[in-house]
Order: sequence, then structure tokens, then C-alpha cells
Amino acid sequence: MQEKYHIVTYGCQMNVHESEKIAGILRSLGYEETPTKENADIIVFNTCCIRENAENHAFGNIGALKKLKKENPKLLIAVGGCMTQEKGKTDILKKKFPFIDIMFGTLNLEELGNLILRKKAQKKKVIEIREKEGEIIEFTDAYRTSYPNAWVNIMYGCNNFCSYCIVPYVRGRERSRKPENIINEVKALVKEGYKEITLLGQNVNSYGADGVDFAGLLDAVASIEGEFRLRFMTSHPKDFNEEVVKVMQKHRKICRLVHLPVQSGSNDILKAMNRRYTREKYLDEIKMLKSRLPEAEVTTDIIVGFPGETEEDYLATEALVKEVDFASAFTFVYSPRQGTKAAEMENRVPESVQKERIMRLVELVNSLTRKKSEKYVGKTVEILCEDYDEKKNLYLGRDEFGRMGYFSSENNLVGELVKVKITRANGISLFGELVND
Ligand code: SAH
Ligand code: SF4
Ligand code: F3S
Repeated sequence: MQEKYHIVTYGCQMNVHESEKIAGILRSLGYEETPTKENADIIVFNTCCIRENAENHAFGNIGALKKLKKENPKLLIAVGGCMTQEKGKTDILKKKFPFIDIMFGTLNLEELGNLILRKKAQKKKVIEIREKEGEIIEFTDAYRTSYPNAWVNIMYGCNNFCSYCIVPYVRGRERSRKPENIINEVKALVKEGYKEITLLGQNVNSYGADGVDFAGLLDAVASIEGEFRLRFMTSHPKDFNEEVVKVMQKHRKICRLVHLPVQSGSNDILKAMNRRYTREKYLDEIKMLKSRLPEAEVTTDIIVGFPGETEEDYLATEALVKEVDFASAFTFVYSPRQGTKAAEMENRVPESVQKERIMRLVELVNSLTRKKSEKYVGKTVEILCEDYDEKKNLYLGRDEFGRMGYFSSENNLVGELVKVKITRANGISLFGELVND
């Protein structure tokens, strides 16, 4: 009988895509996928350590496997991802969960196949973490699970060292893939029928390889023939620029949505965060974007309760949120990460204040999102059908601004761009009817 794998993924899109690469490796070893842990022969945890609660989730779920491992000693448990790259974390994992068989990091993902074979040949656990990033290893055999969407890495790592952030420590320094490799990958995906390509990087605007910058790369990718939408994530306000917006204007394939994390609306906090832009620069970029593309929407990430954040600083964030009128925002409570600069800062904001601020901010963001949803009612939008919701008995997909829309259809429309007339908005979701043109 064929052996089975089960992958548990935490964290960002980068990890979601890396789990597709892990799946590719496991399939090349002859494993097939299983949706449950109970009948798996190998369980792989692809972890995240961006905030404490991300780590706690992983700890809880790894711990829960003790029983399964006892019942089935042949079961292999592998842990990889950002958490294993944290200093000293593998020792903690080893102590807490002695039943883990394999640990690997973000910088040696491609070795997983060998590590599994090694573990199968020996009793001892296999722990292989690389401290420094090496050359980019080109992977072409990711097993993609999110058709019709496809994620494409354009770069790895980060050089920015925002004072709160652990990513540069666990993902290494920034390195960009060669444009030719990216273009060939996208061409192949479009040929296979993928309809939405998202270019991924921690700071896509600082992409650079073989003399090609991000605007040049975006232009080249958008020039690939075929029917598809193009997105990119994440833009850093210190590097986002007019050249990129000009390329967006040139190609209708590029979604008019920019994810531009602002983090805070207060200049003092932005400085303490080492973000290297001001509130004014951020607002100027939004103005520049809207002057060239009036229909463009912006989404963002915001942290509240950063060390030293006063009520006045917080209110500056609220004011900025209202001014920009974000399509949506991911909001987070600051979580100290060991080894980062901010973790050493003394002026911590009490938890009760953090909680109160996040509640106010979520309320504000939701009210803006709701208002935007209501404006959709009566309009016809183009939706890329992504899935079928069995409970609702409806198909679903997203418009170019990332809005989820539901509609009914007799035929399977997954993977097709369809026109939907919106009849009802419910919070962040839209409901409508197919329009035949
Ligand atoms: N590279 C991207 C984002 C990576 S992490 C960028 O620069 O925008 C995604 C988001 O998590 C960040 O934008 C930030 O809002 C949040 N985040 C990162 N570290 C955090 C921390 N220590 N506590 C709370 N939120 C954090
Ligand atoms: Fe973290 Fe800042 Fe790099 Fe984003 S740009 S990954 S927030 S250090
Ligand atoms: Fe992503 Fe979490 Fe790592 S947000 S880069 S998986 S720390």
C-alpha cells in the first residue's frame, strides 16, 4: 500500500507555497496525500513564529500527536518552517516533544527528501538546520493545491530588520530569483490553466536580479500571453514607487489592489519600528497611486500596542485608516520576539490597553469594509471562481480587489472568470447572480 502524508501549515502565503513544495518532495518519494492525521505515515508541520500565538498553536498541535505516535510507532513526525530556524528552538522542541523524528529549516527545505530517507535508515532522530542561506535552489516540482491560484516566489528572505520582526532572522538575507526562471515558471502555469498568479516576496519592491528591478519584472510577467490575473505581495512603503504603478496602468491583467502594510500612523512609532518612511510619505504614495489608478484599492497590516505607543499615537493610526479608507486590514497586537530590537524596549504597553486598542481598531476597520461591501450591491463584478461551498450550496471566488463573492451555478465553474451581479452584501462577503454575456 502507498504510504500517506499529511501536512499542517501555519503562517503566511510564503509557508502555504512552501508546503506545496514539501508535498512535491513527499510525492517524489512515493507518498500520497491524506486529509487526516490518523492514517498518515508521515505528518509534517510547517511552522510560523511571527507572533507568540502562532507558536503556541504549533506547540499545542505537535503535543497532541504523542498519543498517535504511541499507537503507531512507525509514524514519522517532521517539523520545519520558521520556528525551527529560531535560535535555540530545536533544543526546546527536542526536550518538549522527544517523539519528533525530523527537524528541518526554511533554508534547507530542499533536503527534506534526503532527511526522510536518512531517518528511515536509522533509529536516531535527524536534525538538520542551516544557519546561513545559500544559493537559491530552483524547485520546479511543487505540488500545487490552490488551483486556479498559483503562488510564485520572486525572492526569499528580508534585509529590513523592522525592529519587531523575526522574519530576517529565520528566513535569512534577501535574495532574488533570476527573472528568466520566474518568467518560465509563470508561462508554464498559465499554460496549465492557472488563472491567478501571485508574485511573492517579503518586500517585492526591492526585487533585483540580472539588472531587472521589480517594475521590469512585473512588466515582463504581465506581458506573458494568456488569460490570467496578476497580483504581488508584499510591498514595502519605503520602496513602493511610481514605476510600478505605471506598469500597473499598462497592463489590465494586474489587479488594482496593492497590499501596503503601514503598521502605524504615528511617525514616532514608525521610527521606533525602523520602517524608514513617514506617515506623510505613505499618504503621498496612496495619492500617487490613486491619481494614476483612481479605482485602485489598498489593503494593509497594522500593529497596535508597540512599545511606547501612546493614546495619541494610536489615534494617529485610526486617523490614517480613515483617511486612506483601506479595503481591508490585518490587525495585530504587538508580540515581542526574542532576538529582535523591540523585544529589548522597556516602555511596554500594558496588555489591557493593547486589547482595548485592537478592539477599537477592528471595529473601525470592519465598519469601513462593511461600507465598501454595501457599495457593491447592484454592480456587476468579474469573479474568478475558486471553489464550491457545500454547506452554502454555492460557488465562490474573488474579484480583483480580493472580495469574496458567492453565487449559484448548475455547472462547475472553478477556474473560470465569470460575471456576477451583486444582490446582497453580508459583512465582508458578497452574494449575487451569474450574468451571461
Ligand atoms: N514582509 C511583510 C510582512 C511580513 S509579516 C511586510 O513587511 O509588510 C506580516 C505582518 O505581521 C507584518 O506586516 C506585521 O504587521 C505583523 N507582525 C510582524 N511581526 C510582528 C510582531 N512581532 N507582533 C505583531 N505583529 C507582527
Ligand atoms: Fe518583517 Fe519588516 Fe522584513 Fe516585513 S519588511 S518581513 S515586517 S522585517
Ligand atoms: Fe511567514 Fe510566519 Fe515565517 S508569517 S515568513 S511563516 S514567521
